Amino acid sequence: MARLHSVLFLSVLCYVATAKKILLSTPRMDDSQSSHVTQTYTYVCHPSRFNGLGLNMEYFGYCNKSLPFEVRAKDLVDRLSLTEKVGQLGDQANGVPRIGLPKYYWWSEALHGVSDFGDTATFFNATIPGATSFPTPISMVSSFNVTLWKTIGQVVSTEARAMNNLGQAGLTYWSPNMNVVRDPRWGRALETPGEDPFVVGTYASTYVRGLQDVEGTENTTDLNSRPLKVAACCKHYAAYDVDNWFGIKREGIDVSVREQDMLETFVKPFEMCINDGDVSSVMCSYNRINGIPACADRRLLLDTIRKEWNLHGYIVSDCDSIEVMYKNHKWLNDTPEAAVAQALKAGLDLDCGAYYTKYGGNAVVQGKVREADVDKALKNLYVVLMRVGFFDGSPQFESLGTADICSEGHRNLAIEAARQGMVLLKNDDAVLPLNGQDIKSIALVGPHANVTTTMIGNYHGIPCGYTSPLDAFKQSIGNVLYAIDCADVACDNGSSFSPAIQAAKDADATVIVAGLDLTVEAEQLDREDLLLPGNQTQFINQVASASKGPVVLVIISAGGVDISFAKANPNIKAILWTGYPGEQGGHGIADVILGKYNPGGRLPLTWYEKDYVDLIPMTSLQLRPLDSLNYPGRTYKFFNGSTVYPFGYGLSYTTFGLSLTAPNIAFDIPLNNLTVGFDVEVANVGEKDGSEVVFVYWSPPRSIVDAPIKQIIAFSKVFVAAGESTSTHFDFNVCKSLELVDYKGYKLLASGAHQIIVGNNDGSFQVPINFQT
Ligand SMILES: *[C@@H]1O[C@H](CO)[C@@H](O)[C@H](O)[C@H]1NC(C)=O
Ligand SMILES: *[C@@H]1O[C@H](CO)[C@@H](O)[C@H](O)[C@H]1NC(C)=O
Ligand SMILES: *[C@@H]1O[C@H](CO)[C@@H](O)[C@H](O)[C@H]1NC(C)=O
Ligand SMILES: *[C@@H]1O[C@H](CO)[C@@H](O)[C@H](O)[C@H]1NC(C)=O
Ligand SMILES: *[C@@H]1O[C@H](CO)[C@@H](O)[C@H](O)[C@H]1NC(C)=O
Ligand SMILES: *[C@@H]1O[C@H](CO)[C@@H](O)[C@H](O)[C@H]1NC(C)=O
Ligand SMILES: *[C@@H]1O[C@H](CO)[C@@H](O)[C@H](O)[C@H]1NC(C)=O
Ligand SMILES: *[C@@H]1O[C@H](CO)[C@@H](O)[C@H](O)[C@H]1NC(C)=O
Ligand SMILES: *[C@@H]1O[C@H](CO)[C@@H](O)[C@H](O)[C@H]1NC(C)=O
Repeated sequence: MARLHSVLFLSVLCYVATAKKILLSTPRMDDSQSSHVTQTYTYVCHPSRFNGLGLNMEYFGYCNKSLPFEVRAKDLVDRLSLTEKVGQLGDQANGVPRIGLPKYYWWSEALHGVSDFGDTATFFNATIPGATSFPTPISMVSSFNVTLWKTIGQVVSTEARAMNNLGQAGLTYWSPNMNVVRDPRWGRALETPGEDPFVVGTYASTYVRGLQDVEGTENTTDLNSRPLKVAACCKHYAAYDVDNWFGIKREGIDVSVREQDMLETFVKPFEMCINDGDVSSVMCSYNRINGIPACADRRLLLDTIRKEWNLHGYIVSDCDSIEVMYKNHKWLNDTPEAAVAQALKAGLDLDCGAYYTKYGGNAVVQGKVREADVDKALKNLYVVLMRVGFFDGSPQFESLGTADICSEGHRNLAIEAARQGMVLLKNDDAVLPLNGQDIKSIALVGPHANVTTTMIGNYHGIPCGYTSPLDAFKQSIGNVLYAIDCADVACDNGSSFSPAIQAAKDADATVIVAGLDLTVEAEQLDREDLLLPGNQTQFINQVASASKGPVVLVIISAGGVDISFAKANPNIKAILWTGYPGEQGGHGIADVILGKYNPGGRLPLTWYEKDYVDLIPMTSLQLRPLDSLNYPGRTYKFFNGSTVYPFGYGLSYTTFGLSLTAPNIAFDIPLNNLTVGFDVEVANVGEKDGSEVVFVYWSPPRSIVDAPIKQIIAFSKVFVAAGESTSTHFDFNVCKSLELVDYKGYKLLASGAHQIIVGNNDGSFQVPINFQT
């Protein structure tokens, strides 16, 4: 079947050997153990700490700072017995007091702030009662502002180091979650950067750089010794985005994925996280892929992550993946020892769980895996702990303390992030921003009108404080008629909605704060439909029809909701989507509605209509439409049906015009220069200052069957004052950006007429690119 026409293998033209089919396997410090030590130390290799243990540090080469990390790690590993070695392979590493090695708890989380979720090293008490809780990633990504993402990563790692100095946090963080949201039902969409692999990979590598990079060491050439502020982790690898859908769970699912989708969608962001972010850890997922558990797949781990992408760091399992392999997948009818051996041989260094520590020794004794594989895993782990200062300390972070956590600057950044993540979906008659002159009272109603914990989603810590929507409106408008009138998101407590209706009748404007929460979409809980839960729709319609003034609907959610009813309802003049906007989310909402901030966020997800979920089961991972089963495509790249709101959508209080600085530009790509560059002029032709996201999409030649409709190859967020204009430059490499993956997994550069589409909405324009061989 002639699926692809006039294609050219990349390796012929592009000077990188990317034309490869690589991925799918075919089916087939704490010293408490030592009672002599009373003093606590912030790092291991301190002579008096060794003295306290009755040891002389000079005899331990692993503490010799003049040796390279790899040599020190080998020294350490060589000192251990087999039993001692496997005792260090779980997330709660035992330590070996005999040689001065303390315990270490590997598990900490920092998805959008330092978190105490899990069996972690991180905790809060009266000394450090909280940490800044930024918007969840689905909200952060909506800003499409890479500077913001990096700044938040830097602030989170500063708070983490400060907490570590005070003995309340670890140095290794299993964040960010960066799986692509393939299906709108996925319960963990709030934790992720949305549906586009390029955006997901860009977000993840930027946030990782914010967490990990130590200023002044950016040019370290030996990446195995590059210092880390904290160690981050890109998870969950790979093809993981079913949690619990009608009882089909992540622990038991075996997803069927073809090479094309694997390369183009599921692993692309991980490759970016390793190559662009230089992340120091990757976590493998619970699921099986084409029969093989992700954490036991040598081709996915050792061959791809470690060899092909050259990870500088360690690979960790999801928590209890190995046990899941044995108990749920019954992989090869394994014994626990065989499951442990499979994972070690596949390249899995650390078990979040107890299988490596419990069964690792026997696995070696039984000859199922070599002790050398255990040693390799340990060395990968210790080099990361050396890079992050666990052994030698990190002088540049030693002075951080309580003043560096929940500071005013960090709180202001949380406010700024909440504002930047807001996405304005509807604004009929330019009803927003509400004008302070005419609006003397506001009815604030709906289940989320006074939310706090809901705004920080999951994988959170204890926030520094909350500003709920009610708090924020009260600070700006004297007269807030507050009538929540729904006990929970279902709004189904049997009463009529009369208090809210009365408030809407009395006030000059009505703000309804509604949406979802973790009882609807969460880890281990996928959605079954795309509707607002329970009686919310009735609630919103009844309030909207009773309201005296204009009605603004605010939706707090991660996944898209079919709110076609509200889009069509002329009484509802404006709709604002917030994601889960973090501890200061109320400020973001009120500042946008009251005009203190001009919204510039864009949807990171397609908002499908409700019948989408009837057309395709969540368990079909295929991205392209499947005619034989009438499956629609997935994500803006392959779904061509009608939507409630498309990917990238979002309005502003001003109007932007986009144009090319060199009009009538068209590229005939010569074979000797594969870089294309152009400038886009962004003019703010409205009356308010504002920020615009310039999206650059590529649309492959139409003759190619199964090619994406379009896909993002670059984006940029620019601020433009009213009446002014600014220009933004884009450069891209044809081989990298115009690369297609064919159905067998080969990477190709197609000959023919390509299009570059700049912009998203009406103002967009196209640049033809002609590429002939
Ligand atoms: C540390 O290693 C260096 C380089 O091998 C060596 O010269 C030095 O003697 C070592 N220091 C100690 C205390 O053993
Ligand atoms: C909080 O925990 C740290 C670390 O264990 C400890 O040093 C500190 O005293 C604790 N603070 C309070 C108020 O208990
Ligand atoms: C790293 O290299 C870049 C480019 O050569 C240079 O501008 C920068 O100052 C260097 N940074 C450090 C910390 O040396
Ligand atoms: C709003 O929520 C906060 C925190 O849950 C609560 O203390 C406060 O009483 C609520 N306000 C009203 C008016 O119900
Ligand atoms: C319904 O919920 C509202 C808000 O929580 C509450 O004031 C009202 O009493 C509830 N009605 C019933 C019948 O539970
Ligand atoms: C909520 O919906 C149920 C039916 O689903 C209905 O019986 C109940 O009266 C509704 N409650 C309100 C307050 O509208
Ligand atoms: C969408 O795709 C289907 C087949 O995949 C095609 O028949 C239809 O014409 C397309 N619709 C649009 C609007 O492009
Ligand atoms: C290739 O094209 C880019 C963008 O048009 C240009 O900046 C660059 O100088 C060209 N390089 C060569 C070697 O011609
Ligand atoms: C991006 O975020 C940074 C950090 O908050 C901010 O200073 C900058 O103004 C933002 N850029 C735009 C274009 O909004």
